[in-house]
Amino acid sequence: MPAHAPDASSASATTPDKTVYIETFGCQMNSADSEVVLARLGDAGYRQVGSVDEASLVLYNTCAVRDHAEAKIRGRLGALKPVKAKRPGLRIGVMGCMAQREKDAIIQRYPHVDLVVGTDQFVRMPQLLESLETRDHVVETAFGDFEGKLWEARRTEGINAWIPIMRGCNYNCTYCVVPFTRGREKSRDPAQIEDEVRRLVDDGFAQVTLLGQTVDAYGKTLGDGTTLASLLRRLHRIEGLKRLRFVTSHPKDITDELLDTIAELPKVAKHLHVPAQSGSDRILRMMGRRYTRDEYLRFVERARTKIPGVELLSDFIVGFPRESDQDFAATVSLMDAVRFAGSYVFMYSQRPGTPAENLPDDIPNEVKKARCNHLLDLQLVHQGEVYAKLHGAIRQVLVEGASKSDDAMLHGRSEGNLNIVLPRVGADGISRDPLIGSIVPVRIARSTSLTLFGDLVA
Ligand code: SAH
Ligand code: SF4
Ligand code: F3S
Repeated sequence: MPAHAPDASSASATTPDKTVYIETFGCQMNSADSEVVLARLGDAGYRQVGSVDEASLVLYNTCAVRDHAEAKIRGRLGALKPVKAKRPGLRIGVMGCMAQREKDAIIQRYPHVDLVVGTDQFVRMPQLLESLETRDHVVETAFGDFEGKLWEARRTEGINAWIPIMRGCNYNCTYCVVPFTRGREKSRDPAQIEDEVRRLVDDGFAQVTLLGQTVDAYGKTLGDGTTLASLLRRLHRIEGLKRLRFVTSHPKDITDELLDTIAELPKVAKHLHVPAQSGSDRILRMMGRRYTRDEYLRFVERARTKIPGVELLSDFIVGFPRESDQDFAATVSLMDAVRFAGSYVFMYSQRPGTPAENLPDDIPNEVKKARCNHLLDLQLVHQGEVYAKLHGAIRQVLVEGASKSDDAMLHGRSEGNLNIVLPRVGADGISRDPLIGSIVPVRIARSTSLTLFGDLVA
């Protein structure tokens, strides 16, 4: 046995130096924030590791949108208690939406947590960690002028980069915690965004996805006439950038100018994620969504007229308080009328502090589940039909990499952001891996309800 072996084993029982393990829950906004916090920690000498065991700092970037999301984090935090007891030098931090929502309550419930850092404060993570040298706990959850600063981010994936272009939300959908966890809507300076996109393209990213809770409201808070449409035009000019996307849209903010701009600019994906949430006017009113079923359907009509081939994605909530069979049937008929290319379906989860907390959470869980499954099944039927109509069609596919489910295939995204796979090796025996990061024409041959299969057009 080498002479240093005993030392090495005793070292592993102590806390490693400046290593961070981060786990990210929730939406792309959180993933983007994690990339920023990793960059900040990297500047402060931290190295990212793949497990709690190797880490001197464990960070959970949390989501609060449904109780289920928070339950997962409560489980993680509970499990860390004995780890911290054995390794008191371990630092544990909670950031993200649950941190913002619960603040000190997290420390009261889990005293082994050192840091609670809100959604506008995590950029200061290295300084907050330093202040732990003189304090037992740090709780920093003020909302601040975060968006004025340049955000260095540490990105891992090489094709698509996510860029938050705004933060917060000024809508107050009655079920939603996001306005509480992310604060008021704030847009970032377009010049700064352009600068960031240029650097990303220089680093080899082919696509950027612009992020915002109501991304088509981008620019309103700048007060200088900047809109999402003008930002798209500005970014579209960047040489080397191949595709631009944005999520998530609120039906009320999608102007004709924006639809025309999407149609006109070839690099902009022909796809909109515009959650409808429900097809019943009564429920939409109780949800505070600010549009009627009819207005939603008219938006769909407008989008499809102005952008031929546009693919629409929706979110739905089932089991909102007082949702009757009739209300639910209205959602089913809305789905039938629109035929979305994809839908996310969620069971209503009552959130503390939201206006809907004053309504009884009166739809039994089994009913919520049955309605959820019904919509998911219906979505698969619609998707299967939408996909089948594309057999024989050619789509411009941005090749992203090897397919996760089949190593012999490459996967990519169409202009409408549909998932398309093609053989990784051509009939000529030549590997197509060099196409990763390029846009290539693919003829669609067949499909399942989840995936389109095709091959390069000769
Ligand atoms: N900003 C986006 C999405 C916000 S959260 C938008 O406005 O559309 C993502 C999705 O979670 C929402 O679209 C909604 O369908 C769902 N959601 C939000 N709050 C929820 C709750 N309390 N229970 C169940 N689903 C919820
Ligand atoms: Fe939540 Fe509504 Fe804002 Fe979306 S628009 S983040 S659902 S409050
Ligand atoms: Fe996203 Fe969840 Fe927060 S969906 S904005 S991480 S509550």
